Amino acid sequence: MRLRRLRKSPNIREIFADSKIRKDKLVMPMFVDENITKREEIRNMPDIYRFPQEQLVEKAKEYEELGVKSILLFGVPKHKDAMGSASYDNHGIVQRTIREIKEETDLAIFSDLCLCEYTDHGHCGLIKGAKIDNDSTLDVYAKIATSYAEAGADGVAPSGMMDGQVRRIRKGLDDAGFEETLILAYSAKFASAMYSPFRDAVHSTPSFGDRRTYQMNYLSTREAIREVELDVEEGADVVMVKPALFYLDIIKEVRNRFLLPIAAYNVSAEYSIIRSAAKNGIIDLDSVIDESLSSIFRAGADIVISYFTEYLLKAEKN
Ligand code: PBG
Ligand code: ZN
Repeated sequence: MRLRRLRKSPNIREIFADSKIRKDKLVMPMFVDENITKREEIRNMPDIYRFPQEQLVEKAKEYEELGVKSILLFGVPKHKDAMGSASYDNHGIVQRTIREIKEETDLAIFSDLCLCEYTDHGHCGLIKGAKIDNDSTLDVYAKIATSYAEAGADGVAPSGMMDGQVRRIRKGLDDAGFEETLILAYSAKFASAMYSPFRDAVHSTPSFGDRRTYQMNYLSTREAIREVELDVEEGADVVMVKPALFYLDIIKEVRNRFLLPIAAYNVSAEYSIIRSAAKNGIIDLDSVIDESLSSIFRAGADIVISYFTEYLLKAEKN
């Protein structure tokens, strides 16, 4: 047997490949910032910007023309307080932006649901004493969810890793008549050092402590499966593993055990590291983007949230 027969030419290699990057399965993250009037490039993330509302909507239209199908929207509010009250304001920055994108495009919109961008302490939940209080946070999450649904979001993506968040949000949505709003649950979200460019961008670094009492320990595989299992039971439509590249084993394990769609989040520092290594001449950018995203699909992700989405779709056009 000579396996090299299957590799002898580009066309032979292509027809026998058993996985590939699906460009229509890529989700582009977008940041709307209430504090700026001109777009600002995010530090260490070349070509990725925070936009004021109207510029973001223009960009979303451009994305739609490029062939982007869906976006994951994040907001940076003007007002932060201990309760994160700007998060569920029906006229808040994210809610207004969702409405306008929906008026102008057919893009599917997932809206990130968390408190860390809205609280003055930067944690993903409310503080009681010195702790992040799980159950009082759930009520706020439900309010955010209905305000996003009301604005027209196709789905909400709770990223705070509070126990019971999917159940509480599902109930809140259903009670308010939003049975059609999807929940894309950040199920196995690890306490990772790979979020730093993101936190820098949305000013959500915790002012004390860290996120390790709610985000997962990266040494716990079985617990990751339990997190997914619970979210499935609680009514998640899609489960997510995050980050993606250091967690391909988790994606694979979740793929083998569950039937619902799996999302993987190719996070900010995964983008930064590749861009920076390419800039320094260490790697070839296009090749490494292709190889790294291929690995995420090959591990079993159905959809991939990636800052490379725009780049890839643009490359395809040219
Ligand atoms: C907020 C949130 C984070 C990311 C997505 N939602 C940061 C965090 O948990 O600290 C990270 C995204 C990225 O790094 O690209 N809960
Ligand atoms: Zn958060």
